[in-house]
Amino acid sequence: MAENQNSSIMEKVISLSKQRGFVFQSSEIYGGLKSAYDYGPLGVELKRNIMNEWWRSMVHEREDVIGIDASIIMHSNVWQASGHLSGFSDPLVDCLISNERFRADKAPAPLPGDTLPINCKDKGQAKVYQAAIQKQFNIELKRDGKTLHGLKVIDDFNFGFFPEKEDKPTDIFPYRGYVSPTFGSPFLSDERKFNLMFRSQIGPVDVLGDITSYVEKNQNLDNQELRKGIEDIVSSSAVYLRPETAQAMFVQFLNCQQSMSMKIPFGIAQMGKSFRNEITVEHFIFRSCEFEQMEMEYFVEPGSQKKWLEYWRDVRMEWWKSFANCPEKFRYRTHEKDELAHYAEACYDIEYEYPWGFDELEGVASRTDYDLKKHAEHSGVKLSYFDQQKDDPQTGKNGWRYTPFVIEPAAGATRGLLVYLLDAYHEETVPDADGNKSSRVVMKLHPRLAPIKVAVLPLVKKDGLPEIAREMVSSFFKAGINARYDEQHSIGKRYRRHDEAGTPYCITIDGQTREDGTVTIRNRDTMEQERIAQNESLHIIQKRLMET
Ligand code: GAP
Repeated sequence: MAENQNSSIMEKVISLSKQRGFVFQSSEIYGGLKSAYDYGPLGVELKRNIMNEWWRSMVHEREDVIGIDASIIMHSNVWQASGHLSGFSDPLVDCLISNERFRADKAPAPLPGDTLPINCKDKGQAKVYQAAIQKQFNIELKRDGKTLHGLKVIDDFNFGFFPEKEDKPTDIFPYRGYVSPTFGSPFLSDERKFNLMFRSQIGPVDVLGDITSYVEKNQNLDNQELRKGIEDIVSSSAVYLRPETAQAMFVQFLNCQQSMSMKIPFGIAQMGKSFRNEITVEHFIFRSCEFEQMEMEYFVEPGSQKKWLEYWRDVRMEWWKSFANCPEKFRYRTHEKDELAHYAEACYDIEYEYPWGFDELEGVASRTDYDLKKHAEHSGVKLSYFDQQKDDPQTGKNGWRYTPFVIEPAAGATRGLLVYLLDAYHEETVPDADGNKSSRVVMKLHPRLAPIKVAVLPLVKKDGLPEIAREMVSSFFKAGINARYDEQHSIGKRYRRHDEAGTPYCITIDGQTREDGTVTIRNRDTMEQERIAQNESLHIIQKRLMET
C-alpha cells in the first residue's frame, strides 16, 4: 500500500478511536500528556476482552500454567539482580542546534557520500539555525527556503562543510553515524545512558531535605563526589515502577511451584501495567510510557529449551492470527545475535505489518537460567527444582536438582489493541435504504473481542417497544453478554454507529415483535437481516459467539 494511504489509515484509526470512545489522549483538556493514553468506554472493553482471551488460553485452558497478580512496586534489589538498574537504558543524544533529544539507536543513519540537508519547519527557523551554526561552528550554510545545505558525510567518522561548487571540505567535524530525526542535524552531543525505569521514594522520607543538608555540609566536594552522595541518599529509599511484569514470576517461582505442586515443565503467567520512561514515544499507543503486558515464564528442563521456544512461538502466533481478518499481516523474525537482550540466548519477534512497516508485537525469548540464578545469588534463596524421577546427568544417580531454563512469550496488550484496531478498520461502499451507493466505516473486530456484542434497538421510542428492548438487554447481561440499549437517532444511523463501534449484532424491535414475538437480527459484516423468534435470540447470539 502507498505510504500516504498507510499514514492516512493510521490517522483515520486515531480519529475514530477518539470519536467512538476507544482511546483518548491523556489529560486532553490540559493540552495532553505526551505518550499517555486513556482507554475510553469502548477501549476499556476491547482491552479487557483481549486480555481475558489471553488469560483464558494461557491459564484457564492449560493444566501446566498458573497465574499471579504481583505488585507493581517491588523490592529495589529485584531490579539490581535482574540487571535493570545497570543495564536497562537507552543511548540518549541532544542536537546542539535544536536541543532535540532522541535515541541514538533509532536515528536515521546517512552513509558516506550522502549530503546532510538540515530541514527546518519554516524559513524563520532556518534563519535561526543558520545563525546558530555559524556562531558555534564558524561555517555559513547556504539557505534555500527552509533547508540548509553544504554538509556531507565524508566517511564513517567525519562529515564536512562543502561551500557551494567546492568538492573539497573547508571544515571537517566528527560524525557519529546518525543525524537528529526531526531536522537531520549532525551537530550532536556525546551519547549518555538513560535508565528507562520510573523512580520514586517509599516511606516517610524527606529526600529533598536530606539532599539540601548534605550539600550544605559538603560544599568542598567536586561535582562528581556530590552527585555520588546525592545518588546514595536517593537510592536508600528508592523504588521503581516495574518496566516488565516478568520479574515477579521469577521472584515468586518457589511459592507458586510449591503451593500448586507444579511439575516441570510449567508456566507462571501475569498481565498488567508496566512503565518505561521511553525517550522515543511513537505511533499513537504503539510505544507509550505506561502500557499493559501479557507475559508468561515457562520453566523447562535444561536442554529442552529449543523445542519449547519453537512450541511457544507457534502457539502465540496462532493465537494472534485467530482473531484477525488479515492473518497474512503477521510474521515472525529471528533475532540476530547482536540484538539479543543480555539474558537471552535466542528470541523470535512476532511482528505485525503496521502502516509504517513490520514491527514488534510480541517477543518469544529463551531466557536461559539467567534470572533464577541471579535472584538466587542476590537473595541467598535456592531457586531450583528437584525431579525425583530423573537421574542426575552428572552423577548418574536417581534424583536431579537443577535450575530450570525459561521460555518467555512476552506480549503487549495495548500494542495488541492497536493491531486489532488497524486490522478491523474497513471502509466500504454499500447500498443505502433507497438502494443508492453510500460509504460506511466498519470495525470488523472479532466478535469475542468486540466491546459490545449486541445492540438492542427499538424502532420507535413508544408503543411498548423500549420496554421489550430493555428486557432483552437485561437477559443478555444475565447470560454474561455485554449488550447495549440504543434508541437515539434513526435506525440507519444507529446501524452505522454500531458498525463503527464494531458491534457484531444489532437486534431491532418493531411493531411486528408485539404481534408475533419476532425480531430482526442484523449481521455487522454482511449487513444481512433475518427475522428470528425473540425468545430464541439469546441462544442464537450465544451460539454465534461460541462458534467464532
Ligand atoms: N519481559 C520481556 C519484555 O518485557 P519487551 O520486548 O521489552 O520484553 C514485551 O516487551 C512486549 O511489551 C513488546 O513486544 C511490546 O508488545 C510491549 N511493549 C514493550 N514496551 C512497550 C511500550 N513502551 N509501549 C507499549 N508496549 C510496549
